[in-house]
Amino acid sequence: MCGIFGFKGKGNVRGIIKNGLKTLEYRGYDSCGFFLNNKNFTLFDKKVGKGKIDELVLSLPFKIEEEVIVLSHTRWATHGQISEDNAHPHFDCKKEIVIVHNGTIENYQFLKRDLEKKKHKFISQTDTEVLAHLIEENLKKDKNIFFAVISALKEIEGSFAFLITKKGENLIIGAKKNLPLVIGFDGDNYYFSSDPIPIAKYTNKILFLQDDEIFCLDSKIKFYNFKKNIQIKKEFDEIDLKEYKITKGIFDAYMIKEIYEQPEAIEKTLKYFLDETFERLLKQPMPERIIITGCGTSWHAGLIGEYMIEKIIRIPVEVEYASELRYKSPVVDENTLLIAISQSGETADTLGAIKKLKGKCRIFSICNVEKSSIVRESDFTLLTKAGPEIGVASTKSFTSQILILYLFSLTYLFKKRKIDREKFNDICNEILKITEKISFFLNNNNVEKIAEKLIYKTNALYLGRGINFPIALEGALKLKEVSYIHAEGYPAAEMKHGPIALIDENMPVIFICVKDKLMKKVLINMEEVKTRKGFIISVCDFISEDIKKLSDDIILIPHVSNEYMKPFLTVIPLQLLSYYVANKKGIDVDKPRNLAKSVTVE
Ligand code: M6R
Repeated sequence: MCGIFGFKGKGNVRGIIKNGLKTLEYRGYDSCGFFLNNKNFTLFDKKVGKGKIDELVLSLPFKIEEEVIVLSHTRWATHGQISEDNAHPHFDCKKEIVIVHNGTIENYQFLKRDLEKKKHKFISQTDTEVLAHLIEENLKKDKNIFFAVISALKEIEGSFAFLITKKGENLIIGAKKNLPLVIGFDGDNYYFSSDPIPIAKYTNKILFLQDDEIFCLDSKIKFYNFKKNIQIKKEFDEIDLKEYKITKGIFDAYMIKEIYEQPEAIEKTLKYFLDETFERLLKQPMPERIIITGCGTSWHAGLIGEYMIEKIIRIPVEVEYASELRYKSPVVDENTLLIAISQSGETADTLGAIKKLKGKCRIFSICNVEKSSIVRESDFTLLTKAGPEIGVASTKSFTSQILILYLFSLTYLFKKRKIDREKFNDICNEILKITEKISFFLNNNNVEKIAEKLIYKTNALYLGRGINFPIALEGALKLKEVSYIHAEGYPAAEMKHGPIALIDENMPVIFICVKDKLMKKVLINMEEVKTRKGFIISVCDFISEDIKKLSDDIILIPHVSNEYMKPFLTVIPLQLLSYYVANKKGIDVDKPRNLAKSVTVE
């Protein structure tokens, strides 16, 4: 989604803005722009299209001795098509109030109609421009721009993070609700951003603005709660930004780097759980019923969680798409637990589902970003420690999420006294051994070769059973989002009820067939596909004559006997397959078309 980067200070403005915007590229964007404000001069430019940041920043000075304010933005189109007019920054009629914004102003059409009646002229189709005009209108009655912004905030509905400046004034104002806004200070210069990553290069003094907070920076910075109309005190924290200093290292893309980071992510998540979460989780009451929610890959992790929780602790679980749950009338009470899963902690639908059920049942979140909105709205958080995930495709966050769901189940099993601490520790040690198996597989596999065979295909089917059915869904999602090949995941036996009609020699069918109690059933499903000349790629942890006979290609993964640990291994080849197919097709895997890393609109 949109990215905001702002700067107030002196120095290599071109380099700073370029670094800021490029670091936010991963969020997804289709146009970019900036406004440079100074008492004596202003500069402004916009570019349409992906990959235009280098070109855009050429209009900025390389070095500047006077203090300047720069607001810059990467836009991921929501309101209005991709065009220069719709790119940010946006202005009021007099082109004096300048704004960059991330989020959605839900009542913008109503406000726009009213402002049009008051003779405001709009250039774009965006919701953001309405805010600039609303502030302009409020300035007719409010004493200064700060009060005019506060009045405007009381009129708008929706989610937002924005930065505002006024032409020729040494002033920057920013506010947020539901979406992140981070401020960094290096002793001289201020940096503002949608996440800490672009700031990490300059300072570790960071402040996270909270919901309903607004700041005003001229000669000094002041903070207020705009809902309560009170000034508040906020301090910059010195935080360890090591993990935010991210590069691709030896890899071509973040996606493949993050796939390879999974052993480390699992280890860190496990350690953090044991050190920081386990004891606190034990004190939480035992729910009678659990609803798991999330979107995309996080929803798939939820399906695996359902399987684990129901089987391990025998508590009924339902898994709901967050976008559906938020508009349903779920029957919940104080004995119901909602578990919301999200890598980013900012996904609008997941946040919407949490808000819907807040106060009606207990809310836990499984999240990768500690200071995110979802964490703040939850009663209890189980953090994943996968580290920042830059590639649009979720990879390491998925395996960390399923690890947390497994640890959650084991903790409650321990609480129910069905296992002792020794058994719990043994399982944790087993988990550590899986990381070695994943590393081994990552460095010894035939997936890249098999990927060659898929690059000209237009469709693919992913089939699995039991705990590996959600892995089939996840494999299909990975392939479609990064390689643009249409793919569907199904429970293997369900194929007979429709999808089987699609099978012929052009249809690759990826089977997850591991040694478990459903293995023989999967082999029968493979037989059904082979009979119809389907092209079978088997992901298996054993080789048998049957498997050899039925498969066109075999991806052999390490065997693990614990059924709950199998998904940690079965998903890896599917992630690699998508990466290699997309890479061979020349697609930018980290920023596939139309997608954004954190989906902060409904
Ligand atoms: O940040 P979240 O986990 O809440 O994001 C949810 C989905 O948007 C996300 O998993 C999406 O489906 C990914 N692109 C999948 O790779």
